[in-house]
Amino acid sequence: MIENLILKKLEDICGKDNVFSDSETLDLFSRDETEKLSFLPDVVVKPDSAEKISSIVKLANEIKMPVIPRGGGTGLSGGSLAVKGGIMVSMEKFNKILHIDKDNFKASVEPGVITQVFQETLEKSGLFYPVDPASKGSCFLGGNLAENSGGPRAVKYGTTKDYVLSIEFVSPKGNIIQSGASTIKNVTGYNLTQLIIGSEGTLGIITKITFRVLPLPLFKKLVLVAFNSTENATAAVSEIFINGVIPSALEFLEKDAVKVTEKHIGRLFPNSEYDAHLLIEVDGYYNEILDLDIERIAEVLYKYDCSEIILADTSEKMESLWALRRAVGEAVKSVSQYREEDTVVPRAKLPELLKGVKEICSRYNIRSICYGHAGDGNLHINLLKENLDDKYWNNEGIEAVKEIFKHTVKLGGTISGEHGIGYSQKNYLNIALTDDTILLMKTIKESFDPNNILNPGKIFN
Ligand code: LAC
Ligand code: ZN
Repeated sequence: MIENLILKKLEDICGKDNVFSDSETLDLFSRDETEKLSFLPDVVVKPDSAEKISSIVKLANEIKMPVIPRGGGTGLSGGSLAVKGGIMVSMEKFNKILHIDKDNFKASVEPGVITQVFQETLEKSGLFYPVDPASKGSCFLGGNLAENSGGPRAVKYGTTKDYVLSIEFVSPKGNIIQSGASTIKNVTGYNLTQLIIGSEGTLGIITKITFRVLPLPLFKKLVLVAFNSTENATAAVSEIFINGVIPSALEFLEKDAVKVTEKHIGRLFPNSEYDAHLLIEVDGYYNEILDLDIERIAEVLYKYDCSEIILADTSEKMESLWALRRAVGEAVKSVSQYREEDTVVPRAKLPELLKGVKEICSRYNIRSICYGHAGDGNLHINLLKENLDDKYWNNEGIEAVKEIFKHTVKLGGTISGEHGIGYSQKNYLNIALTDDTILLMKTIKESFDPNNILNPGKIFN
């Protein structure tokens, strides 16, 4: 129970209507989309200005209480959970698109804007923000920065970090800091912007973002193709690039991913009896060039013993395939308790990654469902608990994850491509990073946040 005096101080800062300590609200904010995790905050506040957040953080430093920034709550590593209780700062009132500068291809927003809303607003001005995580309909841009979100288009367009020109954030000591500039180029002091991006709410609470955006591609083509083996599907991936085409998305789904999604949303994939699928999109400004790209892609695919190639030739058909793809994560969740691992390797190592994962899982007798952003080497590996007993799941299950991560790192990869370390993955950090690297990161955290106020218990032990 939070003390009345603290509640009163928070109410003085945020207004009475924006401070919540009722059990229903606390429960609602105790979870994100991460497997089976729940931690109650002591209080949820909904401020609407950087100044108010600054006052909250300063108060928290005085009373030594954690502050946890919270976006859309769609995270997959527990980054926004109050693992040590504390004051949860919901950013939902920061929901304004502040300025779209069409001439300079820039847009400034508050961090509580939903990613898809931002994209659709830009589209009306012929502009494009490419980063499209599966949760784009509900995640917040601020959360995307905190986790450096990726998604399918990262293969051609990069991730969130590639679009941020400048930010305003509240430091863990409560100072309002401006970093970056509204320019493409900038070498003015340390690159604090890129340090905050991907820091999972441990180094600052983002209160304003200026993005660089692109001209909206005028044409898109999407094909779905099935293979008789996952080896053939994953081997075809890097061959497409070697042949000179950079798709705007290149997704891999193994048969089980397709099957559970069909069941979950009650719609069938074409050719779902095949072992694996690739969903491949190209985009650009000239339709004829996209036709040539698709021809070239088809030449590669046919070398890998694929099914007929299905072209989604209307925007409805394209959106319908993308909706199926975006539903995979939810579908896997509905099957069983699970662990979602977010491996990423250099693209051409994907066949070896998958082969190793299947070998490890069969040795541990754990069913896995794999899918993800094959074009950028990012494979989501879901281990299903199903009928395994708790003890096995919590001991051997963890050993299996460690083996998968060691295999990933050996291939030149790392243990999170886009979901972050947050709370659920921190015990594996030392598989990917050396002790000296982790120590340097902890030193940075300490210098930003000597009282360990901001989102404690994340990234490191
Ligand atoms: C996806 C999420 C889980 O790719 O990252 O669907
Ligand atoms: Zn993903």
